[in-house]
Amino acid sequence: MIYLDNSATTKMYPEVVETFATVANNFSGNPSSLHRLGEEASILMERSRIQIADLLGMSASEIVFTSGGTEGDNWVIKGTAIEKMPYGKHIITSTIEHPAVYQSMKQLETLGWEVSYVPVDENGIISVKLLEEALREDTVLVSVMAVNNEVGSIQPLKEIGKILENYPSIHFHVDAVQTLGKIPFNLNDYPRVDMAVFSAHKFHGPKGIGFVYIKKGRVLAPLLTGGGQENNLRSGTENLPAIVAMAKALRMSLDKLTDAPIQLEKQHKIIMGFLDNQSTVDVFSSSKGAPHIICFGISGIKGEVVVHALEKKGIYISTTSACSSKKQLNSSTLYAMNIPKRKAESAVRISMDVENTSAEIDQLVDSLQETIVKFKDIR
Ligand SMILES: Cc1ncc(COP(=O)(O)O)c(C=O)c1O
Repeated sequence: MIYLDNSATTKMYPEVVETFATVANNFSGNPSSLHRLGEEASILMERSRIQIADLLGMSASEIVFTSGGTEGDNWVIKGTAIEKMPYGKHIITSTIEHPAVYQSMKQLETLGWEVSYVPVDENGIISVKLLEEALREDTVLVSVMAVNNEVGSIQPLKEIGKILENYPSIHFHVDAVQTLGKIPFNLNDYPRVDMAVFSAHKFHGPKGIGFVYIKKGRVLAPLLTGGGQENNLRSGTENLPAIVAMAKALRMSLDKLTDAPIQLEKQHKIIMGFLDNQSTVDVFSSSKGAPHIICFGISGIKGEVVVHALEKKGIYISTTSACSSKKQLNSSTLYAMNIPKRKAESAVRISMDVENTSAEIDQLVDSLQETIVKFKDIR
């Protein structure tokens, strides 16, 4: 099997599974309990928070554990909206955000907030100029993703941050779910970012666990209220085995990325070089995008047909994003990039990982070649 759907999810590393099982077996206490078992669980949880903070150059108090990317995005957006209601009800985002962001915006619109959706260019990169023009007195939040999950476009967070230096009260939120373990990414390079969202299953950790970075001094209203866990910011008994396993997965993923910094780029070049030479292929990702994501289509052939043709050869890819593929929704990112419907319907996404070998990529290219030839005849 060749797994090339790593933007949908990644396989937990065996060591991470082992850590999860060890903690589940040996640390059964609730971190909030007063007795010894609770104390042990709490110490372990705080150690994981420090580990994650150290790995990412954050402070432990800036990390809040959540159930993953969807919760994180919902929380930052709606938590900002609630917190800043007295100051304004205008939000800016891009036209290519993940549904966790987009649907949160849509919900806020039904409740009276105004949202400006800033367009992207043909490479899926947000217009910084139009973002600046959209800023208003009553803007309380700017939410832009770091790396797009469908085409891999990298957003100009530094430039946006520079503009927002003149608007210090606006929250700058970044959905950074597609970064860790895939591209070098350190929030210290983006000092204006106030909140960022991460999800463990994208870097070989467990599903259903993640964390939100909230810069010291910034305030978010909690969405989950209850027992006051996570410093009153996110109530609910913490998932200790998953948290400890997430910290381990992060360390391993960052180590592996450091060990193979150019491997992904090399593989990206090989696949892009091949696709660019095919007369019946439309490549939707830019060569300057994140190296782990390549979106393309065989013209006239629906994406799902290509996914199943490759699956028969033991190669697992997807039609753009995992969220949209089963519901057969067409890619919102491609439409935002002004790709015509017929082409967008042909789109498939290859998403790589440092675990993919050169031999696997060679086999992918051979299989793609066969598939393209086969469909040439059908067309
Ligand atoms: C950019 C982006 N944001 C948010 C999410 C949602 O993350 P989760 O699956 O942890 O809820 C995803 C998952 O695909 C994503 O790619």
